[in-house]
Amino acid sequence: MTQKAFVPYKIKSIEPITLLSREEREKAITKAGLNLFKLRSEQVYIDLLTDSGTGAMSAKQWSAVMIGDESYAGSSSFFKLESVIHDLMGLQYIVPVHQGRAAEHVLDHVLVSKGKIIPGNTHFDTTKAHIEFRGGRAVDCTIEEGRNPTANHPFKGNIDLELLKQAVEKYGRENVAYVLLTITCNSGGGQPVSMANIKEVSKYCRKENLRLFFDAARFAENAYFIQQREESFKNTPIKKIVKEMFSYVDGCTMSAKKDAIVPIGGFLAVRDEQLYEDLKPNEILFEGFYTYGGMSGMDMENMAQGLTEVTDENYLAYRVGQVKDLGENLDACGIPVVKPIGGHAVFIDGRSFYPKVPEDQFPAQMVCVELYKYGGVRTVEVGSSLAGRDPDTGKNLRPAMDLCRLAIPRRVYTGEHLDYVADIIKEAHLETCNRTKGLAFEKESKGIRHFDSTFKYL
Ligand code: F0G
Repeated sequence: MTQKAFVPYKIKSIEPITLLSREEREKAITKAGLNLFKLRSEQVYIDLLTDSGTGAMSAKQWSAVMIGDESYAGSSSFFKLESVIHDLMGLQYIVPVHQGRAAEHVLDHVLVSKGKIIPGNTHFDTTKAHIEFRGGRAVDCTIEEGRNPTANHPFKGNIDLELLKQAVEKYGRENVAYVLLTITCNSGGGQPVSMANIKEVSKYCRKENLRLFFDAARFAENAYFIQQREESFKNTPIKKIVKEMFSYVDGCTMSAKKDAIVPIGGFLAVRDEQLYEDLKPNEILFEGFYTYGGMSGMDMENMAQGLTEVTDENYLAYRVGQVKDLGENLDACGIPVVKPIGGHAVFIDGRSFYPKVPEDQFPAQMVCVELYKYGGVRTVEVGSSLAGRDPDTGKNLRPAMDLCRLAIPRRVYTGEHLDYVADIIKEAHLETCNRTKGLAFEKESKGIRHFDSTFKYL
């Protein structure tokens, strides 16, 4: 047995949670149209909807909030944030924004137009939506193993270089707006990208004169996997790994709500001065002046502190270890989970959880609904409902995997909370896995449809 990582913090402040009765939960989820986004937070006992903006702040972050400088222009908090990002990632020009999708908005407004493609590794839903909103298309070039829930590969987020080359050839080099590597790859199961893959993709992009960006929301967790799984990095400090990762790209979009452990915030960072100059007018139009862009001084000060804490090796060992423990506990009891276990979340394979339910009847969404009913646990579907329709044909897309995601907020839940979650999943599986019918839309909403659609049992 490998030794468990120690818990590198203790609890200073608590927030009460309660568990409604089964009857109350049934009522609540029915009223919510079987859509967990429509529940009120007080109706939820353990909230694993997302790891975004839900982390617990440290005492040092709370202190940082107090010294936030709220000057409209030239805020000292901006310069502190800029210097932290520069030291960590080596990227010169920083465009602060209010969250990750705002970074996508500002960037795509400059780089994406009708007919352009953005090859990458299973783009996140807002990323894909912003690309399509500008008339572009996301092209998925993830390696084969990354589309298979049981394939064992240490870096299932990797890009298949051959697929990338084929996409560039098919659409023409001049139609590639940029190449995007999402680290870790959220929609693919929280799976990391190896340094070797980052390097080979970067080499190819530089040769072809293509821009390469990271969607860096979970960059520190990705760096931790590189340290743990890539032999030549096993003795390299996380900060050094992060610096090297970013040395291969032209910039990044960042949702700071994940690996900067803040409730709100984000940024775009680029190396190219001309691109930065081109981004500025959009930043001012959409987000705000370029030394605050959608964030308060408090937010920026908080984020600067969060970014320094997230690369702490003891923190990362415990964080990623906690997610792994939950996943392995479930796996040992025969619950079908995506393997290896991802960095921020455990993903249950809905199609295997309900093998008799037809794929177009949203099995993963039904897993989410049952886990709430069984134990007040809130999760999210990352599957057929989220995937939506093909923007060109209007047909329902059939994603490679139909998953129920249990995203673990950073520094929030204890092992006891997660043991409870595992028990609930086992019970729900035992009692419902033989179902033959799933769900159908009651109302299919427009846009990213999993937020607002409602469902009914068939
Ligand atoms: N990129 C990735 C990989 C993400 O996971 C997210 C958000 C975004 C971009 C957008 O960032 O929310 O700050 O605008 N993911 C959240 C989630 C919502 O639950 O996984 P945002």
